[in-house]
This record gives sequence, C-alpha cells and structure tokens, in this order.
Amino acid sequence: MCGIVGYNGKDKNTLHVLIDGLKALEYRGYDSAGIAYKNNGINIIKSVGKIDELEKKVDYNIKSNIGIGHTRWATHGSVNITNCHPHNVGDITIVHNGIIENFNSLKEELENKKYKFNTKTDTEVACALIDLFYNETKDIKKALVKFMDKVEGSYALGVIVKGDDNIYSVRKDSPLIVAKGDNGNFIASDTIAVSKYADSVMYLKENIIAEISSDNITLFDRDLNIVENDFKEIDKSINNTDKCGYDYYMLKEIHEQPKVFRDTVSSYLENGIDSLIDKMPDFTKYNRIDIVACGSAYHTGLVGKNLIEEFADIPVNVEVASEYRYKKNFYDDKTLVIVVSQSGETADTLAALRKAKGDNIDTLAIVNVEGSTMAREANILLKIKAGREIAVATTKAYSAQVAMLSLIALNLASAKGNIDKNEIKDILKDIKELPVKLENTILNPEYEKIANAIYENESVFFIGRGIDYALSMEGSLKLKEISYINSQAYAAGELKHGTISLIDEGTPVIGILTEDNLVLKTISNMEEVKSRGAVTIGITNNNIDSNFDYKIEIPKVHKLLQPLLTVIPLQLISYEVAKLRKCNIDQPKNLAKSVTVE
Ligand code: AGP
Repeated sequence: MCGIVGYNGKDKNTLHVLIDGLKALEYRGYDSAGIAYKNNGINIIKSVGKIDELEKKVDYNIKSNIGIGHTRWATHGSVNITNCHPHNVGDITIVHNGIIENFNSLKEELENKKYKFNTKTDTEVACALIDLFYNETKDIKKALVKFMDKVEGSYALGVIVKGDDNIYSVRKDSPLIVAKGDNGNFIASDTIAVSKYADSVMYLKENIIAEISSDNITLFDRDLNIVENDFKEIDKSINNTDKCGYDYYMLKEIHEQPKVFRDTVSSYLENGIDSLIDKMPDFTKYNRIDIVACGSAYHTGLVGKNLIEEFADIPVNVEVASEYRYKKNFYDDKTLVIVVSQSGETADTLAALRKAKGDNIDTLAIVNVEGSTMAREANILLKIKAGREIAVATTKAYSAQVAMLSLIALNLASAKGNIDKNEIKDILKDIKELPVKLENTILNPEYEKIANAIYENESVFFIGRGIDYALSMEGSLKLKEISYINSQAYAAGELKHGTISLIDEGTPVIGILTEDNLVLKTISNMEEVKSRGAVTIGITNNNIDSNFDYKIEIPKVHKLLQPLLTVIPLQLISYEVAKLRKCNIDQPKNLAKSVTVE
C-alpha cells in the first residue's frame, strides 16, 4: 500500500507540494520514496528510507509546475533505489499504488517488442505498457484505455508524459482522489496528502481517466466522453496533525479514547435506548451475522461476536477477510455481512465486501475514514468518530469499532427484549461514566513498572477466556507490531495442550480476567505457568485473590462496555515496552497504516 501524490500548479510550487504530500502519506508505507518533476525535461529524484532522506536531495530553489511523487511499501522487488518509484520508460513516467497481477506475461510480451527492464517491479512493466500504447496511438488517454483493458490487478496511477502539460490518472481497487486548489490541481492516494493546499476533493471512480491541468480537472469515460465531476469541500480539520506534546501519535491517540468513545456513541443515545433503535438499521431481520476484517479490526470482530451472541442471541461468524474472500460462504438473505476497517481501503476487506454485495447479501461497514471506498460501497454505513488516526498501530479506532459493535449488540438485545429496563438503565449509566473511568485507567502508573520487567524478553504470552481471549489477541498484536517482541495469544485453557512447553523461567504471561464465570479457571491457568517459572501479570476487574507477580485492576462495568477498559492496559504496556526498546512506535518497521494490496 504505497502512497502517490501529484501536482499541476501555476505557482511552480511543485517540489514543496510533493514532499509535503509524501510526508502526509508516510502512513501508507515508508520503505523508500521518489519524485518526478518537469523542469527542462523530466527530472527524477529517489531515496531509500523515509521522506526526510528524499527531502535532503531536493533543491527547493528549482521551480516546477508539474510533478508526481511516491512513497513505497515494497510488494515486488527489494527496497533499493532502483526499484523506487517514479519509473520512466520512453515518454512515460509513472507512480503506482497496487499490484499488476499479470505483470510477468506482460513483461515477456514487452521484451519481445524490444523493451528492456532495469527493475524487478510490476510498475516498470506498467510504465512500458503505457509507453507502448502511447507510441501506437499518439494519444495518452487512448493509451490508458488500452492499458485498463490489458492489465489485471489493482492500480492507482499518476502519469506524466514528455511534451504534455497535464497529469493523468486512472484507478482500479487502489484508492485515488483528485483535488482542486487556488493555485493548481492535485492527485493523491488520500485527501490528507493535499488538504494543506487544496479546497475541494472527489474520489476518482474506476474506469475514469482524469486529466489534470493547472487550471482544471477533466474526467473521461473509456469512450473518452467527458463525464460529470462531483467535488466536495475538504474538511480542513484533518490538517490538525500536531502531537499536542505527546512523544508519539500513538500515545496521543490512546489518550483521545475517552473523547472518541463519547463522540462515537453520543449521537446514537441522545434520547436513550429509543434513539439507538431509531438511528440504527433494523437488525432483527437477520438470523446470522458475518463479521469480516483484518488485523486489529478482525479482533474487534471477535469482541463483537462475543457480545452480540451473548446479548442479541444470534450466531456471529468472524473471519479474516483474506480467507473469507476466497472461501465458500454460507450466507443468505437473512445474513448481514459487517466489514470493519479503520481506513475503509484494506484490499482484502474491500474484496470481501464486494463479494457479499455481488451475491446480493446486505453489507454494513464500520469505518473511520469518511468517503473511503468501503464507506461508499457498503449498503449501510456506521461511521465511527475516532478522527484521523496517524499511528500505524491502531488504538482509538479499535476502541471506537468495539464501541460500535457494542451498540449493535445493545440495539439488538433491546429490540428483541433480551434485556430489561433496569439493565438498560445500568448500561446507560455505565456509558455516561465510562469516559472518566477510561481516563483513570489510562493514568494508572503500573504500566511502566510492568514494561520495565518484561521489555528485554524475546517472547511474551497473552491468555484469556471468552471475551478476554479476544482481547488477548489484540494485546499480543499491539506488542508485536510496535516492540517487535514475538508474542502469542492463547485461549487460557488451550495453553497446556502443547504451547506451555515454551514457558521458561521468566517468560512473561499476561492474563486477562474479566469474565466473572471464568476468572477462577484463568487463575488456575496462570498458576500452571507460574509453577513453570513464568512471570505472571493479571489484568482484572475482579478483586481476586491471586499471587500474580503484577496485577492491574480496572473498573468493573457492564460486560457490553468492559472490553473498552480492558484494552487500555494492553495498549499502554505495549507502548511502554516499545519505548524502552527504542522502537519507532508510530511507524513500525515493515508496516503501513492501510494495506491496499493483497
Ligand atoms: C493495527 O494495529 C494494524 N496496523 C493492522 O492490523 C490493521 O488493523 C489492519 O491492517 C486493518 O486495517 P483497517 O482497519 O484499515 O482495515
């Protein structure tokens, strides 16, 4: 999931616009980066590493009015200068986000037409193919139509052509926006890349060619007829990317969770449970729910499953999207497929959504990014209000997604009469009081002490039963992705069936114990590992009698809300460990914020 940006401007400010845009897109990948700009011909600058490294090579005294840029998360070809975008073949220079799946066969065809390749990338093949069609048609828009007919896979392209004063763009699956500003016009993978300079934006539809001049943006269909555009004003608040004094965006976003919770749920509960029923779709017509997602979003689905099954009494099937999209599905017109995605662009989750829609199954998207592809394509949208999440490791968006799934469980439980008025009253009281409890849980000083005890270990285990098992999976992923410690999450009762062999003297085991009817069982499992030398850390809402080496007590609230408190220690222990290990917490190695490739 790379990031692309392009500018065609009268103010010749291209180099600043491209570098600023790439910095805003670093969340999409930061292996390497490059720009191509017009100034006495097309000039290309590339660099391995983050945008700061590229910027060192840029001379801002150079004035240019046209340019494209790219920040890379490698899919084909190792991370080196040669494989960096932009790529140039003949008259064509491009940046690309996506995967050309038939690039090997295309490469052979092009080599038979005397094209030579210097890189291992699918993008260079795409560039050569466009050059071939451009030489045949002498018309870049016709060349792009032929390109779209020929390639298989995903792409969002920025294209500049020798002797042509426009930028051209086409997309399929990978996201791309076009935007307008006072001094020029833009393309980008995400609005945030150009929101500092642009005023209006629209999402480029598939099978549309965008022609971007410094004065205008013209859209063409495959027959090269001009089509209508639909620009919307950019919400400039997304430019607020200040860390507000926190060391890392991740810590800032953890601290934002009380407000995010309030923002996400308040609009559904302004008139108590009645508004929740009114403002959400009628879920009672479904007798089964599939929740499909990736990574942390998948973990929210596991929490949602537990809550919806327990309180709404319907079966919930949770699957990782990369499996769901290819497997046989047992859904019908009484199934609701819920996709969960912070970015709303994750390729596997989007493919699962499109598969369900293609089978005429009702789809609902829980997403954070307004205007994202999933937000636009799902039948029903429940937008969380986490605000822009910059840290690659999700925290506030995860919590907001869990909160939305809790609201769905509450909505269904209430609509089906599964919970009485007194319980609803208790829940609404807990909802009202939760932000303060979240704040107090965030401020618990224990996390740093525990981090000091475990940060030098090379393996850590998380265990839990029921909903705590779902939380243990998120805790394990948080630790892995930001501290690079190998970690595993296990159903507490399952550890003894083999993996307990990995428990050595001093191995940290973090147990999560919030399910009243299962606490004693998990205590036994913690004893089992302690007797084998483990350092035991308990996270619990029960004032249990235990001999854990460390214990974090969190407030006890209604089960529908408990996961939102339980996840806080998991996020902050991981954060403190990563800090002690001097890791790049906001942009961990090998990761990217939005995975828009398979
Ligand atoms: C979360 O910390 C990870 N960065 C990753 O697992 C993420 O949750 C996953 O890639 C899904 O992203 P999405 O929510 O944007 O679809």
